[in-house]
Formats: sequence, structure tokens, C-alpha cells
Amino acid sequence: MAKEKTTYVCSECGGTSPRWLGKCPACGAWNTLIEQAAAPAGGGAQNNRFGQSYAALAGSSELAVLAEIEAADVARTPTGIEELDRVLGGGIVAGGVTLIGGDPGIGKSTLLLQATDALQNAGQMALYVTGEESGAQVALRARRLGLERSQVQLMAEIQLEKILATLDTHRPAIAVIDSIQTIYSDQLTSAPGSVAQVRECAAHLTRFAKASGTAVVLVGHVTKEGALAGPRVLEHMVDTVLYFEGDTHSSFRLVRAIKNRFGAVNEIGVFAMTERGLRGVANPSAIFLSQHEQPVPGSVVLVTLEGTRPMLVEIQALVDDGGPSPRRLSVGLERDRLAMLLAVLHRHAGVACMDQDVFVNAVGGVRISEPAADLSVMLAIASSLRGKPLPKGFVAFGEVGLAGEVRPAPRGQERLREAAKLGFSIAVVPKANAPKKAMRELEGLTIHPVERVEQAIELLRSIDGDNRAP
Ligand code: TYD
Ligand code: MG
Repeated sequence: MAKEKTTYVCSECGGTSPRWLGKCPACGAWNTLIEQAAAPAGGGAQNNRFGQSYAALAGSSELAVLAEIEAADVARTPTGIEELDRVLGGGIVAGGVTLIGGDPGIGKSTLLLQATDALQNAGQMALYVTGEESGAQVALRARRLGLERSQVQLMAEIQLEKILATLDTHRPAIAVIDSIQTIYSDQLTSAPGSVAQVRECAAHLTRFAKASGTAVVLVGHVTKEGALAGPRVLEHMVDTVLYFEGDTHSSFRLVRAIKNRFGAVNEIGVFAMTERGLRGVANPSAIFLSQHEQPVPGSVVLVTLEGTRPMLVEIQALVDDGGPSPRRLSVGLERDRLAMLLAVLHRHAGVACMDQDVFVNAVGGVRISEPAADLSVMLAIASSLRGKPLPKGFVAFGEVGLAGEVRPAPRGQERLREAAKLGFSIAVVPKANAPKKAMRELEGLTIHPVERVEQAIELLRSIDGDNRAP
């Protein structure tokens, strides 16, 4: 088959060029030209962005009144792996496309092999396309997982057209593509893993999923630089986006849904990597706490709410003499938010870190994006700066505003109950989250409501009995 000629389209202005150029000839932007497969010959209708007549297409698409369309509930097939089903919103959806991203080595292939095997055992045909590893390597993993008798269909292939042909013949219930970055279409000249290839291949696989009803799972590596060719460019195309989080050095892994057309987002699944694969952790509330014998300065436990479950995560801060341009670094927390919190601390509570390096870290590689972490980050910073630990059994949560106010966190009661259940004894929380005056104690947990950051810092000073600044 003769190769279709490809064109290069500018991602900024939509201008085209027959060759790759560093600079778009239309708008002058740099590095924006991306290869695209040419439209089939005679398919002028797809190209007539400007001016051509659409008369030939009149009436070819039908209109329907929204209220008259029957809203069918999507049919889900549980994978049998409870924590995965939780993030998926109940299971895989026929014709749905899921993207699973994460660092190399975090457990994507392991989880998907376990899931496809479980589905196969439940009578759903599962096809696993491996572009990264050989069949023997996958078989080795299966052995390790105790799945040596797995009936999952395996295909070691990286060419898109061959994959599509096989999928079309077999029509499996679920097809896993591990990984999308290794697949290439021979319609394009760019290398596998380039933006053009990743996008083109994903688009074809998505179209196949919608047309055939096969649930397609695309595996994508997130590169350290968050590179363009990573799964990010696919997020808008697919129905569900899951990301693996966690420190490869610790055994816990989180799978977070950041987009889900078929379920709730921000639900998380929690797993532990064991010698025999990933095992669901049904009760994850206390896994992100490090076990200090005695309280240490700069450590505060945050009660965060992930999806439907409260979790306790240790937030650590280290404040140390900095050079002429002090550093602000955060792992697992937003850096811009850290800069904001430092400004609020200074302006409203008189705690100055101007000439100090400030590092903050959420223990266990978990990523915290909710603003309810603010108060604990602040208290951890103040504690490190003072060199004084908070008392044993201390927890905090609450959002902090630029005016120095402490705002309530969603579902505060649930967070407090979880902390009490785990034996924590003292909590600093937004006033609106605290129970009524008569019951400021909850099963051994004493609750200190605060309305402003200066109140929280004041409380810190009274707790450790040292009233000196900062
Ligand atoms: P893998 O699923 O290959 O990661 P990814 O596909 O995201 O790159 O997981 C690789 C890591 O998991 C590897 O370091 C070995 C470890 N592992 C276990 O600890 N136990 C197991 O049962 C398996 C299969 C892997
Ligand atoms: Mg892998």
C-alpha cells in the first residue's frame, strides 16, 4: 500500500505545512507543527474548514430533542478487584476508554494483568497487547502473580493497524494496550512515542472502542519532565483517566480518578505492592503516617478526605537557614500554595521565613491537592521554625485564605470522627467544622476551633508553653 502523504498542522493557529518546520509559517510560533495523517483522497469534506460548500452533506446528521433521548444507564462489568472498581465507578464500561498513567515501575502492568485475568475468569474475553515487554516477560510476571494458568489472550505487537485488525477479528470485552507510547501507525513518519503517534493511535483505538463495544485501556508513562508526548495529550480524548501515585520505595500505591465520564472523580483506590502483586487496602486511613517514637518538630498530621474516605497523612516541614535566594520546595503539595501560605503566615501571624529555605513533604508519596491541607502545612512550618514538636496525637485541617481567615473543610465531622477512631487526642480545626460548644470533645479527641491563622499560631505557643516569637 502506498503511504498517504502526511501534513504538519500548527497546534496554535491551525496553519498547515507539507514539511516539518521549526517555526509555523502562518503564525510564527515555534515548535508547534505536529504531523497528521492526510485525509483520504477525495474526502474534501473533512478539509473544507474555509469557504467550501456543505450542501452535499445537508441532512446527513440528524437532530434529536434532548428530552426524548432515552438515557440508558451504562452497563458496567466489575473487574473483581475492589479498589480498582471503586475508582472506575463500579467496573469497566463497554466501549469506554480508560487511560492509566504513572511513573515507570509503579505497577500499571501488574494491576492490569491481575484485572484482565479476573475478567477472563468471569467469562469476559480479555486481550492484552504488550508493546513494551515480550510475551515471555509477561508470562514471567503472571507466574509471579500466581496466574500461570491464565487464559488471557496475549499479543506482542506495536503496529497499530495490526492491532486493530486483530481486535476487530476477536472483539474482546476488554483490550489493554501496554503502552500507548510504544504503538505506532504506519500512516505517520514520526517515531513511536511522539505526540503525533500517541494522539493518532489513541484516536483510532478510541474509535474502535466506540464502534465495537470493547472496553479499551491505554497504559501511559508519565515522564519525569511531564513531557508532552506523555498521557496528558490524551486526557481529553478518553472517558476515564486514572493516575497511579505513590513512592516506589514504599509499598503503598494510590490509583486516583482525575476524570470519569462514568463515575465520581477524586475517588481513590489504595493498594499495597506485595511479593504476589497488588493487594487492595480496604481501610487505608492510617497508612501515610510515619511511626515516630516521640513527636518531632515540623510534623503535623492532616485529616484529608479522598473521594469517600477520610485518610490521615503526615505533613512534614523543614525550615532552615537559606542562602541569598532561599528555596521553597514541596513534594506532594502545591508549590504556589506554599508560597501563598508563607506570605499569609508572615503578614497575619508575624511568622517570618524570608531568609529561610522551606521544604514541605506529604509522607508516602501521596499527592494532596485539597486546600484543607493549608492549616496543617502552616502549623508544620511554624513548628519547624520554632524547633518545637506538637504534642502527641495532634491533627489539623482547614483552608486558609489570603485575609488570614481559616475556612471550613468539606465534611469536617467525618474527618474528626476518623481521627478520634484512630486515637488522636487533640485537633485544631476551622470553627465551622467544630461541634457545638457543649461537646468539644469527641471520644477522647479535644477540639480547638480557630477562625484565624494568628489564633492557630497563638494556640501553638500556648500548647508548648513558649510565648516567644515567632
Ligand atoms: P510493573 O507493573 O511492571 O510497573 P509498570 O508497568 O507501571 O512499569 O511493576 C513493576 C514493579 O513492581 C517492579 O519493581 C517489581 C514490582 N513487583 C512486585 O513487587 N511484586 C509483584 O508481584 C510484581 C509483579 C511486581
Ligand atoms: Mg509496564
